[in-house]
Amino acid sequence: MVKVNLRSQERYGGVLNAPHRAFLRSIGFSDEDIGKPLVAVVAAWSEAGPCNIHTLQLAVHVKEGVRRGGGGSPLTVPTIVVNDNIGMGTEGMRYSLVSREVIADTIEAQINAHAFDGFVGIGGCDKTTPGILMAMARLNIPAVYLYGGTAEPGFYGNLKLTIEDVHEAIGAYLAGKITEDELYEIEKRAHPTYGTCAGMFTANTMAAIAEALGMALPGSASPPATSARRVMYAVESGVALMNAMELGIKPRDVMTYEAFENAITVLMAMGGSTNAILHLLAIAHEAGGVKLTLEDFDRISKRTPYIASLRPGGDYVMADLDAVGGVPLVMLKLLKAGLLNGKVLTITGKTMEENLKNYKFPNVPHDHIVRDVSNPIKPWGGGIRILKGSLAPEGAVIKVAATELMRFEGRARPFNSEEEAFQAIRRGGEVRPGDVVVIRYEGPKGGPGMPEMLRVTAALVGGAGLGKDVALVTDGRFSGATRGFMVGHVAPEAAVGGR
Ligand code: FES
Repeated sequence: MVKVNLRSQERYGGVLNAPHRAFLRSIGFSDEDIGKPLVAVVAAWSEAGPCNIHTLQLAVHVKEGVRRGGGGSPLTVPTIVVNDNIGMGTEGMRYSLVSREVIADTIEAQINAHAFDGFVGIGGCDKTTPGILMAMARLNIPAVYLYGGTAEPGFYGNLKLTIEDVHEAIGAYLAGKITEDELYEIEKRAHPTYGTCAGMFTANTMAAIAEALGMALPGSASPPATSARRVMYAVESGVALMNAMELGIKPRDVMTYEAFENAITVLMAMGGSTNAILHLLAIAHEAGGVKLTLEDFDRISKRTPYIASLRPGGDYVMADLDAVGGVPLVMLKLLKAGLLNGKVLTITGKTMEENLKNYKFPNVPHDHIVRDVSNPIKPWGGGIRILKGSLAPEGAVIKVAATELMRFEGRARPFNSEEEAFQAIRRGGEVRPGDVVVIRYEGPKGGPGMPEMLRVTAALVGGAGLGKDVALVTDGRFSGATRGFMVGHVAPEAAVGGR
């Protein structure tokens, strides 16, 4: 039983708090339950998409872990989910990035209003993980992150499918490369189970980052949503939270500058989503003075080998990585090469080095998915690079893991919105090989909301063979599924005077 001072007792203990206790009794709490630490299981839950549809069920298992050994009294509370894929290419995408702040704010409101002593946050879709981690950093009470898990890949003939293939199939259809029937078959098969998008897109990237930061249990990022091991991790996350409370470990003890450096190193080694840069900066900001800058990302990228062949840059999906050892396999290789700081504390109460030492790795070949650091997939360092220049004096990003090109010269084809660019591609013949598509007024203010440009980038790549012949520059964002020579986050954005 946790013996530390509990803020829940200030709210629910003593004679004068009888009205507060009366409501706990109304939901089934006994005197004994009221005397235990009050734990929230925050489920980012929604039926409006497959990514988080199962998180309430996971919450049941987390509660089991919290109660184990007479631990705490858990209650499930919700937060919102804005589904990125369903908003993609529409007005809906303008709500995506801002939903991250809404998630952090709704968690803060509920945790503080009800005087919870700690919480497990269950995320899934893209913005839910950073929103939950921001709340953990901001509130700084004991907390553990649990990922809802990836979807399994689909199959179409010999092709392994993810949602990226449906977006690119639109481009192929518009270019007359596939029929409407083929597009329909791909649509039906692309996302065959619940869980998040299957590649190393934003959701899986952020899950890997939560693990690398030390806020999630070792190995918990990669099991598919449908896996029995996901249930095991749910129970263990509840147990881990009670252990963290007993030890007095708080998120800011874990999310230190060194932990962020580790997370960036894993991001670069895995060729993860460019969105992670925005999210890590926001989480660091909440973590009470962790001074993370864009320069940190570029510095770490230059020294980190890109070693995990995961889509969209590589060939495999999160479920494949899980089969060979998950994120701990990547971390172990980086640690052995001296690229990670193994001394950092994690929510297990152990250092990252100790966690990896105790981790049970499957004894299977893995070089096809995760290479040794001495044999990287590409020779130029990490998967993402920070760019600066006359168009982006304050910076821009490119996922070099997802392109074969390191240089592009061409004629600028400016558009004032994503829709304008998409319609030009759709009409055909207006964007030609050698062009640099420039989409402006899609930044945080211009969009507004800094929407992702997957519909355009996928139409270019999946369409008339323009993936290697056309570059794109925008002040908007990209989906984690975007591939090709695509430069985003151009700052300052056009809406505030950027060129
Ligand atoms: Fe939810 Fe991709 S849309 S993870």
